[in-house]
Amino acid sequence: RIIFDYIDGGVEDEDCVERNVTAFRDQRLLPRYLVDVASPDQTTEVFGRRYSTALGIAPTGMAAVARHRADLILAEAAAAADIPFIISGAATASIEDIAALAPNHAWLQIYGARDAAITRDQIERGAKAGIETLVMTVDVPVNAKRESNIRNGWVRPYRPSVSAFLETLTHPGWVAEYLRHGLPFFENWRTYTEAGASPRQVAAFLSSQMPSTQTWRELETYRRLWSGNLVVKGIMHPEDALRAERAGVDGIIVSNHGGRQLDRSPASLDMLPGIRNAVGDRLTVMLDSGVRRGADIISARALGAKMVFVGRATLYGVAAGGREGAQRAIRILRDETGLVMAQIGCPRLAEIGPEYLSNTGG
Ligand code: FNR
Repeated sequence: RIIFDYIDGGVEDEDCVERNVTAFRDQRLLPRYLVDVASPDQTTEVFGRRYSTALGIAPTGMAAVARHRADLILAEAAAAADIPFIISGAATASIEDIAALAPNHAWLQIYGARDAAITRDQIERGAKAGIETLVMTVDVPVNAKRESNIRNGWVRPYRPSVSAFLETLTHPGWVAEYLRHGLPFFENWRTYTEAGASPRQVAAFLSSQMPSTQTWRELETYRRLWSGNLVVKGIMHPEDALRAERAGVDGIIVSNHGGRQLDRSPASLDMLPGIRNAVGDRLTVMLDSGVRRGADIISARALGAKMVFVGRATLYGVAAGGREGAQRAIRILRDETGLVMAQIGCPRLAEIGPEYLSNTGG
């Protein structure tokens, strides 16, 4: 339950989690018939690289609490499916190990640290590992009040509630893995702590480094340090998208962190058309938060997102079914996308636009 709530939960009343999903469900796809849709083409080009579909895996911290090696399994599944995988700034596998497993598919997400030298080092490690796309997440200025985690005792210092602790005993497979491998490390923060530091000590160090104050100045610094593609994740306001453009970024991910930060935030999908209008094709506009179905990927594409990411969907896959589960989660979303493309008479995902949505004047 502790782990499920950590993945599934949002912030405070969890209204934003629901709002994200409802925004997608409120879209109406308008079908066109008598079109040759025998082999729908989902291929999507982002930053000069062609992927098999418009779906990627969003960064999710602490993934290995759900299953041993979860980050690595997800990265491998992404590479096999030919979709991007974003390494979390709080990953439980190292940048180097993930990049080695998924050399052409791993992007790197960072949270700026209080000690700027750490962030600089992480950026350098990403470049050395051959990563081409850096993602700066900006929507965690403070730790959010995630009440389900608080109830379960899943907040630092971790002290699981008695009922949550007893409930783990009903999951012997998870308990056996936990006893065999122990708590996972925040691998990319380990090198900045003393040799021999325990997972708890590394976690304490991470929470001493972030959230940290990050401003446009820091973004501009990262732009100077990083010669590859630079993406800002968590943009919700058209003015911020324009400001990011002036800072020289290549792309943005319109996102409210899956409803895990600001409960009164609008749905990311509802902000997408305005943002896309503001920046046009000058930035690669992408989106996450609330994607649950292939139809959602299509709606987001139709409203101007090049690539759509999922956080929870693939985490559930890897938690429940390991490698096969991760692959299956991706397959479900990709297959649904193909079915809906055929249903609406759209042979090429790259060409979809608002004309396929009845609620936007198609
Ligand atoms: C996240 N998210 C996230 N984002 C980020 O930039 N860095 C991170 O380390 C994390 N960690 C994280 C952990 C877990 C368990 C979840 C569910 C999410 C947010 C994530 O990248 C993405 O924005 C949302 O998950 C997208 O919403 P859906 O697809 O989960 O609805």
